[in-house]
Amino acid sequence: MKTLTVALPGREYDIVIEAGVLDRAGESCRKALPRAGKLFVVTDTNVEPLYRRQVEESLTRAGFQTAFHTLPAGEESKSAARLAELWEAMMAFGLTRTDAVAALGGGVVGDLAGFAAATILRGVDFVQIPTTLLAQVDSSVGGKVAIDLEHGKNLAGAFWQPRLVLMDPRVLDSLDDKTFADGMAEVIKYGCIADRAFFDFLCAHSSRAEVMGHIEHVLYTCCDIKRQVVEDDERDTGRRMILNFGHTVGHVYEKLGDYRVWTHGQAVAAGMCVAAQLGQSLGLGGGDAGRDLQALTGLLAAFGLPTHIPCGAEDWGLVAETVGLDKKGAGGDISLVLLEEMGRAVPVKVKKADFLDKLSQLWGRA
Ligand code: GLY
Repeated sequence: MKTLTVALPGREYDIVIEAGVLDRAGESCRKALPRAGKLFVVTDTNVEPLYRRQVEESLTRAGFQTAFHTLPAGEESKSAARLAELWEAMMAFGLTRTDAVAALGGGVVGDLAGFAAATILRGVDFVQIPTTLLAQVDSSVGGKVAIDLEHGKNLAGAFWQPRLVLMDPRVLDSLDDKTFADGMAEVIKYGCIADRAFFDFLCAHSSRAEVMGHIEHVLYTCCDIKRQVVEDDERDTGRRMILNFGHTVGHVYEKLGDYRVWTHGQAVAAGMCVAAQLGQSLGLGGGDAGRDLQALTGLLAAFGLPTHIPCGAEDWGLVAETVGLDKKGAGGDISLVLLEEMGRAVPVKVKKADFLDKLSQLWGRA
């Protein structure tokens, strides 16, 4: 068992990483939520048949009155309509300001349930029980909650920190390889941005079985890096941006594929390769930049992640538009996260026009 404490002004919470913790969810929630009588649990159609029974029994034993609300699995559920559905269901359940909401599922469930918790009755306590690798190492930690709008993903949301994050590594056994790899893109990202030794560790353990053999260490290391970044910059006005390594170009790929062709992790994997090449072309990365880039592409490929996504002439208009509209951009500049060296990311401001130029060279469109 490993525990981390995220310490933010006026709000401190634990991340508990422990095999079998799902069976003890009730005890842990009771400690974190001493006043709550009711717990409204949001889950989805993939997760409910797998884990509802054990979580519900444990919560009931700990004295919670529970209501489970099951959403269709998939990104489409991260909508204003589903948010309104949750608000109404919470009111029908009789939720009060001393009660709480829990998310049992992946990133979609966590983001939506968290935003519902942040907004219902002007905010109630919230617990994250992430069931995918991506949600465990990224979205369940740090308090970003949101829904998607017609204009784009995560455009309506809040910072709403959970009271507790409960991670059971055993749930990862139920993921298919593609979903596991999706999370591995973010795991590898942490090595790139903040921990050279962890990157080297992953290179030496580059299969699902080897990662699972050290899963508590892997989850702990990723969450500890995210903890430090979030403690430094909860509201994402500075250093937190390094978590977006590979994401600017990743968003382009996601959008080009209409969010259906490439998963988030696949798009970020290829985006990290572009960012590493961009850094190299700007003279960053030191003398080892070429070897590190090779190690990165090899590691991503070992998990079946793409290291290059072709971008045709017909896509270029959308690329420029996506980069221009990216909410992390400002004025004529785009803020990119590049690698000063493997294990150390830096935010760099680049003129959008120069960035597009570089992209077109990298994609062979010069
Ligand atoms: N997923 C990026 C962040 O939490 O800031």
